[in-house]
Amino acid sequence: MWVLAIVNEKGGSAKTTTAVNLAAALAEIGRRVLVVDLDAQANASLWLGVNDEGQDLLEVLLGQRAIDDAIRPAPSLAGVDVLPASRRLGNLAGQVGWAEFPQGLLRERLTPLGERYDYVLLDGPRAVDLLSTNALVAAHGALVPLIPETLAYLGLVAMDAAIQSVRPVLNPTLEGPRVLRSRWEDRTLDARAVLAQTEAQFGPAIMRSVVRGDIAVRHAARAGRPVLAGTRSKAADDFRALAIEVEEWAGHTQGRSDA
Ligand SMILES: Nc1ncnc2c1ncn2[C@@H]1O[C@H](COP(=O)(O)OP(=O)(O)OP(=O)(O)O)[C@@H](O)[C@H]1O
Ligand SMILES: [Mg+2]
Repeated sequence: MWVLAIVNEKGGSAKTTTAVNLAAALAEIGRRVLVVDLDAQANASLWLGVNDEGQDLLEVLLGQRAIDDAIRPAPSLAGVDVLPASRRLGNLAGQVGWAEFPQGLLRERLTPLGERYDYVLLDGPRAVDLLSTNALVAAHGALVPLIPETLAYLGLVAMDAAIQSVRPVLNPTLEGPRVLRSRWEDRTLDARAVLAQTEAQFGPAIMRSVVRGDIAVRHAARAGRPVLAGTRSKAADDFRALAIEVEEWAGHTQGRSDA
């Protein structure tokens, strides 16, 4: 089981789009995937066809419900399970005052899953907060989607700082941040400027895959299905390429016992 945190404190930087469509691309090549929705707005849960039924991540984190009772198959995406979020997740910080290791709750709750999944994708909130910290503590790798806007770049810088502070004490083997160019338009001035900054600061950490801006993504989101389920599109091809690169990163391509 390889856990990937998809994080950027900047809102609208393609975290949920990456989680849902990467899950679809990994499922397409036969991987077992769990998407954990760490955003109180529950966009990933809704996109995957799960509404709040009061059995969600908050209760799992608080130890009020076993993780198995909250995980469900995503009705709109075969081969993918979801651990949904709800608005109440926003109250987490106020409710875990008693916990000994509040940043480690998610990691602890995922442990009983053992090797049931090949990948667990964590869809992070638009913040650096207790939930995003839980994601970074639980993860093997951290992926930061970056849209070609200066504010998104600043979000990457903030996530890098968060990772640097979490790693030494709470998760020494965390890899990343790796940067995924998302909703990307190569030719624009903004994209060139953001890329130059990113290369200077994070050069080797930039993923080779690029998810191009594609109206098909918005259509798919509106229809509540992954872009891979629609007619052929640039973005679907890009997410398939991303899945291969994530497999290399996770080391699942080689040495899998159940491939
Ligand atoms: N490759 C793409 N092409 C076109 N539109 C995209 C692409 N990726 C994301 N978008 C659009 O950008 C918007 C923001 O994406 P998304 O919701 O995935 O971001 P987010 O980081 O999860 O946002 P939040 O911080 O609110 O959780 C959405 O409307 C989405 O459809
Ligand atoms: Mg989101």
